[in-house]
Amino acid sequence: MTRILDGKALAARLRARLADEIAALRARTGIVPGLRVLLVGEHPASLVYVRTKERAAREVGIDGRVERLPVELPEASLLERVSALNADPTVHGILVQLPLPPHIDPARVLTAIDPAKDVDGFHPLNAGRLAQLSSPPPADLLVPCTPRGCLLLLEEALGGLEALRGKRALVLGRSTVVGRPMAALLLAHDCTVTIAHSRTRELAHECRRAEILVAAAGRPELVRGDWLAPDAVVIDVGINRVPTAEGGSRLVGDVAFDEALGRVAAITPVPGGVGPMTVACLLENTLRACRARLAVEGRG
Ligand code: GUN
Repeated sequence: MTRILDGKALAARLRARLADEIAALRARTGIVPGLRVLLVGEHPASLVYVRTKERAAREVGIDGRVERLPVELPEASLLERVSALNADPTVHGILVQLPLPPHIDPARVLTAIDPAKDVDGFHPLNAGRLAQLSSPPPADLLVPCTPRGCLLLLEEALGGLEALRGKRALVLGRSTVVGRPMAALLLAHDCTVTIAHSRTRELAHECRRAEILVAAAGRPELVRGDWLAPDAVVIDVGINRVPTAEGGSRLVGDVAFDEALGRVAAITPVPGGVGPMTVACLLENTLRACRARLAVEGRG
């Protein structure tokens, strides 16, 4: 029997806990955590994502606001906006939605965000701290939301993070948003980690060795059922829209879900697996950033 890991339900539980903690923080200090999401341009998928983030933030008591900026906005103006938000004491988290238009250098913008407000965990200081860990992340470290969500799904599947110790984990994908921070997080939890990517030879063989597989390749149903070890735990980060025979479209992951069913110990569905966890972990990071700031001010 394969367990289907319900990310929607796990995310709902996390959001409920965050709502309670935010209400208690507000009652004690009068502080409302603030989150600003900057969207440059009209990228259709990004528009959906940022609206989801804003709504989810408000539902847990975070002052979440999307700022929509024109696609032709000069890079210098975006940097100025980031700088103003860095200086705004009511803002605890800043997220610049990716991708940015081609005339803007994402590295320059992400580096301009105050690392203490970097709720995406993409600033080189936060990415570097994560890369250097040899034990689980400290409470003040802002870890990228999708890898953090994957880790919580693994915790749920395995009945605790201690069970990761010594396990062979394969991360499929080497992006700075998912693959690399995911590998660092698994390493911090004592997994034996391999990172595979588009140039990896004998990918099926690498997958078969994995007790934990996190697929973030962005290629629809790349991983076939017979590539998976029986009893593997599979976290599918892929969200790929593919055409159907009827002329419509549907979402599939990077793993052939139907082929994996009955073979592996546990797998996340697409949609309803990692996606909702990413959003919930953004809210968690915003509260984390707010708490860290209060601690610095001696009000923690
Ligand atoms: N675009 C797709 N995923 C993400 C994410 O996690 N953060 C940001 N900022 N942009 C994204």
